[in-house]
Amino acid sequence: MSKTVLVSGGAGFIGSHVTVGLSQAGYDVVIADNMSNCDETNYKGVCAILGKQLPFVKMDFCDAAAVDALFNKYRIDAVIHFAAYKAVGESVAEPLKYYKNNLGSFLNVLEASRAHGTHVLFSSSATVYGEPEKTPVTEESPRQEATSPYGNTKQMCEDFLRDCVRAYGIHGIALRYFNPIGAHPSALIGELPRGVPNNLVPYITQTAAGKRECLSIFGNDYPTEDGTCLRDYIDIVDLAKAHVCAVTRMLEDKMDEPYEIFNIGTGRPVSVLELVKAFEKVNGLKLNYKIAPRRAGDVTAIWADPTLAEKKLGWKATRSVEDTLASAWAWEKHIAGKN
Ligand code: UD1
Repeated sequence: MSKTVLVSGGAGFIGSHVTVGLSQAGYDVVIADNMSNCDETNYKGVCAILGKQLPFVKMDFCDAAAVDALFNKYRIDAVIHFAAYKAVGESVAEPLKYYKNNLGSFLNVLEASRAHGTHVLFSSSATVYGEPEKTPVTEESPRQEATSPYGNTKQMCEDFLRDCVRAYGIHGIALRYFNPIGAHPSALIGELPRGVPNNLVPYITQTAAGKRECLSIFGNDYPTEDGTCLRDYIDIVDLAKAHVCAVTRMLEDKMDEPYEIFNIGTGRPVSVLELVKAFEKVNGLKLNYKIAPRRAGDVTAIWADPTLAEKKLGWKATRSVEDTLASAWAWEKHIAGKN
């Protein structure tokens, strides 16, 4: 009998790609989302890619009774928790909004998981490493004090999961993503930022599409080769596959420890300027950009050592940054065609 995976926040950017990956791997997937930061585009795209309707529940994970009812309705073997706010700047301005939502929703998931013996995969972030002393970072690299309430919620949720695994006999995995970018090759699902994008790649594609006048490159005086920051840009479809490997590892009882952490990145540092140039080259266009002052809170350089994920999850990033940037542009054009 196939296993059922609940994907909270399954109508969002990462959740929709993970849903496709899980379903294609043979899992039954239940999507739940309050649609606070997305519309139905990705849910419809997921169903179109898979050629079938997936169960969808519109609900808020901060509502404990609704979470309980969901777990009672479906026999859920594992839950992947994406339902959270994710804007770093907004979290600094409105910390309570972030603490209430991101912590409250996860506590409800943990409570229901304890009651039902459900295994939990938490979507964490490389933000927990702050400005690393050494690069690339391994899972053993120290977590630094969070520089934003958003980052703090990632650290706290990791700790909630670790403690609940220890106490309640469930299994847990935290995946620390580096910079997820790109879109599904079908161009039917992708990132749909509301308002002005905070992240680099949506800003690039919107500038190329004429929605934004000019990309600002935040700082070219960092101590790197070309002066711009270095990041580890991970393709969204590769990232989705890591979730399938991690869920399978939990459900097939293959874990070495009941709580495990994995870096999910490529191991390849790319500068902001390199990324912009690769986007121009692969898509055959010129991007309007300028050098602007540094953005507060940005770290100079961070990229993953993904060895552990390869060894234990059997997962490795496969897509080139060029292919990923082509997929991001195809998605932007798909969206533009719909508006
Ligand atoms: C941020 C979050 C990270 C989160 C990720 C989601 C922090 C410190 N960062 O990462 O937790 O998981 O988003 O994707 O919590 N840049 C520009 N111009 C722009 C936008 C960005 O030059 O208009 C530069 C930034 O200075 C940075 C790089 O592009 O060097 C990547 O920025 P961004 O896409 O926002 O991701 P991060 O800040 O690395």
